[in-house]
Amino acid sequence: MNLFAKKDLHQLLADASDETITAPGHGGTGHGLARTLTAFQLTMLGIGAIIGAGIFSLTGTAAANYAGPGIVFSFVIGGVLCAFAGLCYAEMASMIPVAGSAYAYSYATMGELVAWIIGWDLVLEYAFGSVTVAAAWSGYVYSLLHKTLGIDFPDVVVRLTKGPWEPVTLNSGEKVFGLWNVPATIVVLGVSAILYRGIKESAFINNIIVVVKVAIVLSFIGLGIGVISTDNLFVNPSVSGLAQLVPAATEVAGNVRYGWMNGGVLTGAGVVFFAYIGFDAVSTTAQEAKNPTRDIPIGILASLVICTILYILVAIVLTGVVPYKELGVPDPIAVGIDRIVELRGWSTGAKKFFTFGVKFGAISGLTSVILVMMMGQTRVFYAMAKDGLLPWFSATHPRYQTPHIATIVTGIFVALCGGVMPMSLVGELVSIGTLLAFVLVCLGVPILRHTSPNVPRPFRVPGALFVGLAGAASCLWVMTGLPHDTWIRLIVWLIIGFAIYFGYGRHHSKLQHPSK
Ligand code: ALA
Repeated sequence: MNLFAKKDLHQLLADASDETITAPGHGGTGHGLARTLTAFQLTMLGIGAIIGAGIFSLTGTAAANYAGPGIVFSFVIGGVLCAFAGLCYAEMASMIPVAGSAYAYSYATMGELVAWIIGWDLVLEYAFGSVTVAAAWSGYVYSLLHKTLGIDFPDVVVRLTKGPWEPVTLNSGEKVFGLWNVPATIVVLGVSAILYRGIKESAFINNIIVVVKVAIVLSFIGLGIGVISTDNLFVNPSVSGLAQLVPAATEVAGNVRYGWMNGGVLTGAGVVFFAYIGFDAVSTTAQEAKNPTRDIPIGILASLVICTILYILVAIVLTGVVPYKELGVPDPIAVGIDRIVELRGWSTGAKKFFTFGVKFGAISGLTSVILVMMMGQTRVFYAMAKDGLLPWFSATHPRYQTPHIATIVTGIFVALCGGVMPMSLVGELVSIGTLLAFVLVCLGVPILRHTSPNVPRPFRVPGALFVGLAGAASCLWVMTGLPHDTWIRLIVWLIIGFAIYFGYGRHHSKLQHPSK
């Protein structure tokens, strides 16, 4: 038994093309996943996965607690870090266009055990990412109905908007714990039904959602840019130039806050990293893309560039209209739009209209994040089951051509976790899991350049050694900034993964037991 047995690249590619229903004349055996996605749809899927809870919720706390208006630099740092990883994903996906994404790349570069670890780790990113975003979705829906539209709910309904470990405030003002996060469960089951039905249908619904959410983000930028106050933005006059955006480092309760380093812009970058997660999910649809070697890199890089620009603009507008200390709220963009309406001297009616618009945009935006993240999860499970490391999940629906068993199981798991798990427990776990996957993909690029120099790479990372190492180092660095208990949770999760691998996977691995 060789725990580090590597999958042969050529075999990997041959298997993938044989399992996929391709357009007439392109080979394939006529069962499996359907190739329908274009470069445009892939880019939209990337944007669908990226813009979500990060920008609509976390930006505010990151600005209020750590970076102030310097959050703009946090977004730049996050964007550069993700650009390294995005470039590496693009090369890997163009070279190995298969559903397993980082899991499959590691199988070819670092062997079965590392591949298993990364596949298992991707559950943290995709499944728990969906759980986190479903909780944020529920919060925004409740806020839209209750705060914006003024609907009052009986106490029992209020308690059904949060899980049993999260506090809710009853109509009397009394604070108790929730019972079950019903909206989170409902959205996950609804999204699962769409994913079950087909990749084309999923991509179509994603396109509509992305148009809505990007329109809302652009309106926020467009309306706010004219009323930015330099007093809000340039908060540190003791320095010159753009550095004035970064509040001077100070000590708050024994900890350094603000400034450029830990506790300031850098910590802000770690927090807003969550906002960038998702572009990599595009690579999990490689077996459903019409021309994956060209279009997957386009989808990954175009979505990343578009979202980075939007994020930086949102950060400038948000901290330019609201003093950063007032931004520590769960819905900072809604606070921002309220202030923009006030600064423009518009009526209360207008305020209500725009707040409604922002919350509606956030809700739709979060829906597409859940959709694409869960799609990514089902494709990774599919790929792992194809290799024998997991049972059942490699089945595809005869008519809808989706990995339907993986979709049902993922849907039920995420719906249950979404019902009970608090967002605070899973949010940082998602970041650490994603960063670990990024580290391995970044390292994989120079490794494969060395071990398989002649395999065609339709997309080549310029300066691969530098980009790969810089990407891996910067992701590791962000990981070290995450709290200890997040590390402990990651280790516990990986131990559970080892137990499953040694209990099941290695006995059923098709690579180790070709006759099975
Ligand atoms: N980037 C995604 C979000 O911010 C995960 O919701």
